[in-house]
Amino acid sequence: MNVLVTGGAGYIGSHTVVELLESGHEVVVVDNLCNGSEVALSRAEEITGRSLVFVRADIRDRVAMDAVFAEHHIDAVIHFAGLKAVGESVEKPLAYYENNVNGTLVLCQAMEAAGVRRIVFSSSATVYGSEAPVPYVETTSRGTTSNPYGTSKAMVEKMLEDLVAADSRWSVTLLRYFNPIGAHPSGKMGEDPLGIPNNLMPFIAQVAVGRRDELTIFGDDYPTRDGTCERDYLHVVDLAVGHLKALEARHESGVAIFNLGTGQGVSVLDMVDSFVRVNNVPVPYRVGPRRAGDLPAFWADATKARDELGWVAEKTLDDMMADTWRWQSANPKGYEN
Ligand code: NAD
Ligand code: UD1
Repeated sequence: MNVLVTGGAGYIGSHTVVELLESGHEVVVVDNLCNGSEVALSRAEEITGRSLVFVRADIRDRVAMDAVFAEHHIDAVIHFAGLKAVGESVEKPLAYYENNVNGTLVLCQAMEAAGVRRIVFSSSATVYGSEAPVPYVETTSRGTTSNPYGTSKAMVEKMLEDLVAADSRWSVTLLRYFNPIGAHPSGKMGEDPLGIPNNLMPFIAQVAVGRRDELTIFGDDYPTRDGTCERDYLHVVDLAVGHLKALEARHESGVAIFNLGTGQGVSVLDMVDSFVRVNNVPVPYRVGPRRAGDLPAFWADATKARDELGWVAEKTLDDMMADTWRWQSANPKGYEN
């Protein structure tokens, strides 16, 4: 298949590009590099021994997107491009709606004009909102999102559902990711956040490598096993394989929604302990106040992805820790090296 990967120079996109190339698909990446790196794409080529096409463009640029569809025969789109920092989205909501919602709108208009009606979209467990019963299951309706980032994901999901309702030729797959972490086992690709990481795993890795003094654990008085929040962390390579399976297994039109997670809740303290044990490096931490908006605990019911896509998260928490450290220790400054 010829696959257009938007946001393919980013963290999850670049790992998915590797899986696509390794499975024999042809890949065209569109990325404006606002948070991605061309080095990630060269590494993907190095790992797989195959080449891809890279177009530096913004998905909101209709002329550029029309040119991509005109120049390449595209069978399906995997759509990662977007902004993803929750705190920033509260400060700059319009930037998030412009990039995530309008960007998807322009992409879909260009797809429609080119007669390409197959899309796999990067959604998030955040669309379940704060009231959904745990584990989250796809039959539960979207809930009330608590920040513009989450709302932009819910809006795009709804927009794509409306598209299918209006034109049954569209095939839309909404993948709701839980907490992707880890890196390619080669140590050549991984997560490379700009500035101070917002998320737990890159923060732990940067403390371990000496870029930050200590981790602050955001609260230890939650109603959980050890008082710290629990999340469903999954290996980014498993997540990447999930996209491949979604692309290869879904031939029918319509909308399908899949949770991609392990089905296990892991606490913040468990994360720190596993990282230290597996990698034998210290991670100094202190306990601070809760972070606004954090939920105590949630994880996926990933049964549907297993039954319908034949996908299960295969890698262990120890794999996630070892691969994160292999990447971080070999590339202390990320792709800048
Ligand atoms: P990322 O920032 O590493 O990758 C996103 C890529 O999209 C970047 O390379 C960026 O340069 C590019 N991009 C952004 N806006 C663009 C635009 N208008 N035009 C062209 N390119 C653009 O993020 P990621 O972690 O790889 O996430 C990928 C997708 O998955 C995002 O949509 C994100 O919201 C979603 N997601 C991520 C997580 C997570 O924990 N990382 C969880 C749930 C959902
Ligand atoms: C966050 C976003 C979510 C997004 C996901 C992936 C919020 C409220 N939610 O999820 O919408 O889809 O990132 O991008 O921001 N933690 C610490 N110290 C730190 C960092 C994190 O203790 O320095 C804790 C957090 O309190 C949380 C856990 O680690 O309990 C995981 O945090 P994080 O990696 O940011 O993911 P989420 O909050 O689950």
